[in-house]
Amino acid sequence: MTGTGHASLRIDTAAGSILCDPWVNPAYFASWFPFPDNSQLDWEALGDCDYLYVSHLHRDHFDAEHLKRFVSKNATVLLPEFPTSEMRDELTGLGFTKFLETKSDEVHELDGGLKIMIQALTSPTDGPIGDSSLWVEYDGIRILNQNDARPTDLTTFNALGHVHAHLLQFSGAIWYPMVYELPEAAKRAFGKQKRDRQFDRTFRYINDLKASHVVPIAGPPCFLDDELWQFNDIFGDEGNIFPDQWVFQQEYAKVGGTNSIVLLPGSVLSLSADAAETTHPVDSLEDFFARKREHLEEMRERKRPVIEAAKASWRHPEIDVLKEMKRRIEPLLDESVYLAKGVGGPVRFDLVGYDGASVESIVVDFPEKQVRHYADEKVRYRFRTERALIEHLLFVEEIDWVNSLFLSCRFSAARIGQYNEFVYSFFKCLSEERLQYAEGWFDQQKPDAEDIKLGDWIVQRRCPHLKADLTRFGIVDGNTLTCQLHGWKFDLPSGRCLTSVGHELRSRRAGAPAPDGDTGAVAAESVVGQG
Ligand code: FES
Repeated sequence: MTGTGHASLRIDTAAGSILCDPWVNPAYFASWFPFPDNSQLDWEALGDCDYLYVSHLHRDHFDAEHLKRFVSKNATVLLPEFPTSEMRDELTGLGFTKFLETKSDEVHELDGGLKIMIQALTSPTDGPIGDSSLWVEYDGIRILNQNDARPTDLTTFNALGHVHAHLLQFSGAIWYPMVYELPEAAKRAFGKQKRDRQFDRTFRYINDLKASHVVPIAGPPCFLDDELWQFNDIFGDEGNIFPDQWVFQQEYAKVGGTNSIVLLPGSVLSLSADAAETTHPVDSLEDFFARKREHLEEMRERKRPVIEAAKASWRHPEIDVLKEMKRRIEPLLDESVYLAKGVGGPVRFDLVGYDGASVESIVVDFPEKQVRHYADEKVRYRFRTERALIEHLLFVEEIDWVNSLFLSCRFSAARIGQYNEFVYSFFKCLSEERLQYAEGWFDQQKPDAEDIKLGDWIVQRRCPHLKADLTRFGIVDGNTLTCQLHGWKFDLPSGRCLTSVGHELRSRRAGAPAPDGDTGAVAAESVVGQG
């Protein structure tokens, strides 16, 4: 395996090579860059591969420009089984013609004895309508590239035999809590919780699979624009959610982990059943990470023109933002039942003009199914961003504002009450196809009738969020249950979800009688949110 940066790697076997998630160009409004820099690799050679695997359409995994320019169009694309045809359509548009449409959780035998299995996750909250993991076997050696996917458990992979290398995400990949308008101390405390939770989740997966070797991948990105520089984990801030591979290695050692391997871009890991040999493009990994700040500063200077060029392309003063948002969003609001009900209130966008001072406030009113000017009412969420960014989203007809605006971290946010996942699910579904899929998915969520005992409590077995098995992921501390898959918390006496609106948990004290007719109907109702 050759490390090629972030979530990207190339797997070479005698039966063929697989290039995974090659990402080089900045993503999300030129906010995210791969760390360490991978732009100097010999991409002509790396892109000359037999198979291409793109795990999902997030822009730090799907780099259209790079795929078009460097990856062989003779490569066969290993396609995850996603609910929409977007990935195939995008890759076809880039010139790829050979596709293997895999079936989720089914092993496919390729030429020469190479076997692969792709597990596709398809809830509206998994990536941009879908994320996936790739399992590979050749000559008795097995690799799981879990990537940044969050399967509820790893049973399917475990059943295929011992895994020799487990590659997975350990760092942050979201805007929370940095963009929230909160006092610094609160932000730091939330960041620390999040950072700890990320490590806990990673350790849980590692422990589930018990692979011979663990390779931390899929993050962190680095932020090279001066406006975002503070998000890099180089200031000793324990609330920073973007720890790097070296920090992971140290945290992992604290819980007894000794089998991790860090891959830099250009590192090569040779795996056999009982050994792993690694070569690196630097003399000392420790020195490399000790000089991280220097690496980033140099990279910042090199990439400055790229960022400036991107910024120069965002303004489209000819666009009437309110009118265009109405045209694009109101028909989708009309169709939306579950997501609109889940959001349950108005969401406000404060758009800061080119002068850096004037503000136009536009409200997406979910109950009234309208987009209009703000009318001084209470709103559920308020986002503040540059008008130029919204102009650009409208100009390019972006259907996924999570995979563009929100992941860019180029905004600030405030909200009343809890996190509301439906807000983000809606803004990643700004197309008929995606919206219908998401609505159908929520419609099909059935109550989960099975109960389990956790500590002194009887609770439903499956997490009301995304159905993680709470026998594995649930931790009870006093009256609070935490599901470690995404760290959501539930108040056990009331069943209330403490992390997000809706998502109520069925719970009672062990020994207390089950309420009549308690078959999970509460959980089913909660899926659509309580507004
Ligand atoms: S499945 Fe996401 S927190 Fe439980």
